[in-house]
Amino acid sequence: MLLKTVPLLVLVAQVLMLENGLLRTPPMGWLAWERFRCNTNCDEDPKNCISERLFMEMADRMAQDGWRDLGYTYLNIDDCWIGGRDASGYLVPDPKRFPHGISFLADYAHSLGLKLGIYEDIGNLTCMGYPGTTLDKVDQDAQTFAEWKVDMLKLDGCFSTPMERAIGYPKMAAALNATGRPIAFSCSWPAYEGGLPPRVNYTLLADICNLWRNYDDIQDSWKSVLSILDWFVQYQDILQPVAGPGHWNDPDMLLIGNFGLSFEQARAQMALWTVLAAPLFMSTDLRTISFQSMDILQNPLMIKINQDHLGIQGRRIYKDKSHIEVYMRPLSGEASALVFFSRRTDMPYHYHSSLAQLNFSRSIIYEAQDVYSGDVISDLRVETNFTVIINPSGVVMWYLYPIKNLEMFQQ
Ligand SMILES: *[C@@H]1O[C@H](CO)[C@@H](O)[C@H](O)[C@H]1NC(C)=O
Ligand SMILES: *[C@@H]1O[C@H](CO)[C@@H](O)[C@H](O)[C@H]1NC(C)=O
Ligand SMILES: *[C@@H]1O[C@H](CO)[C@@H](O)[C@H](O)[C@H]1NC(C)=O
Ligand SMILES: *[C@@H]1O[C@H](CO)[C@@H](O)[C@H](O)[C@H]1NC(C)=O
Ligand SMILES: *[C@@H]1O[C@H](CO)[C@@H](O)[C@H](O)[C@H]1NC(C)=O
Repeated sequence: MLLKTVPLLVLVAQVLMLENGLLRTPPMGWLAWERFRCNTNCDEDPKNCISERLFMEMADRMAQDGWRDLGYTYLNIDDCWIGGRDASGYLVPDPKRFPHGISFLADYAHSLGLKLGIYEDIGNLTCMGYPGTTLDKVDQDAQTFAEWKVDMLKLDGCFSTPMERAIGYPKMAAALNATGRPIAFSCSWPAYEGGLPPRVNYTLLADICNLWRNYDDIQDSWKSVLSILDWFVQYQDILQPVAGPGHWNDPDMLLIGNFGLSFEQARAQMALWTVLAAPLFMSTDLRTISFQSMDILQNPLMIKINQDHLGIQGRRIYKDKSHIEVYMRPLSGEASALVFFSRRTDMPYHYHSSLAQLNFSRSIIYEAQDVYSGDVISDLRVETNFTVIINPSGVVMWYLYPIKNLEMFQQ
């Protein structure tokens, strides 16, 4: 009990709202970890090791292949970039893999209209064993990142105690603010505390972090996607209300373009993450990505929905005995996104429903656009029975918007 109250008391004195005005919509970009991990063997694998070459080549692709212009602007470094600390305690990147330094990379990203994200850990070591940001180094490291003109910091939680995290995350938020440079702050804190109250205080997190990892790291498999989705749905009553402009739940990176997901599963992850108002961080090789995967990630209507300015996280609203689930995210302009998701493993399923069954307002006539096929379904009244054909482990996703308010017409 004593242990639990001490950090809270410490916090009261230290809490400083982040209020950096950043990430009013979920961040979009590219993050190295899921695909490139801690590959530091540049002798054997020069194209794919964690090095400035990898980030510069991704930056080139982001600028030239349409990513940046669609909103994928963050180019984010993850673990394994650190070389050590110099005699004065300042962080230095690995001199062999980042010979020109991080500020050079930041300048390069900025010259292409991108932003640069970096990674540290509020503990003795990063998860892969590189020097961490211990509590006495928080201010110094924040200053270093700002001097390098970094735009986002992901702060991990390995090799730290709950007490150090309770002090360290708010301290870093204050230190970033004190640099005067707007730096988006991604906190892994809740993932280290089980992701749920009472150990996690989401009100406090929303005050100090722009996004936070609630749960396990994603791995390149459908099983991993489902385990993350299941957890987010199981606790949606807790998690859904805490997301909003400037502060987002982060179910972790998109796997699209990698090895573990089928075409249908890739489409499903994109649709489900979008309806959850999740950050869209790709982690794939943009130099070799297929056109099919690009189409999923570059779908303009999908991105428009993800980036809706109301920033309301969606929920699962219906779970059918047939293993079909319906997710809904309210959007601006009285529109909404609907995702019909199949957990079936047999064949395309003909799912019958109506907007009445999904509790939509009776006085409105809607139209829907299928986000993947582009088909328009017009004159949708709430009582209209419709059928969507959903492939196994796939989705049908609709952008649904009102076209006529019957009540207004009657007046
Ligand atoms: C620091 O916080 C204050 C108020 O809490 C805010 O007005 C300011 O924009 C913040 N500055 C940065 C760089 O985040
Ligand atoms: C961090 O390092 C200190 C000093 O070596 C040690 O006492 C402490 O137990 C370590 N903390 C963790 C969480 O590993
Ligand atoms: C959670 O944090 C907020 C903001 O710092 C604080 O006002 C509130 O008392 C905390 N709630 C709990 C249960 O500790
Ligand atoms: C629709 O409303 C009814 C009655 O309030 C409720 O039982 C049902 O779960 C709701 N369905 C959906 C999909 O929200
Ligand atoms: C829709 O289907 C339900 C039950 O399947 C039926 O009762 C209803 O009459 C149908 N509505 C229309 C407009 O066809």
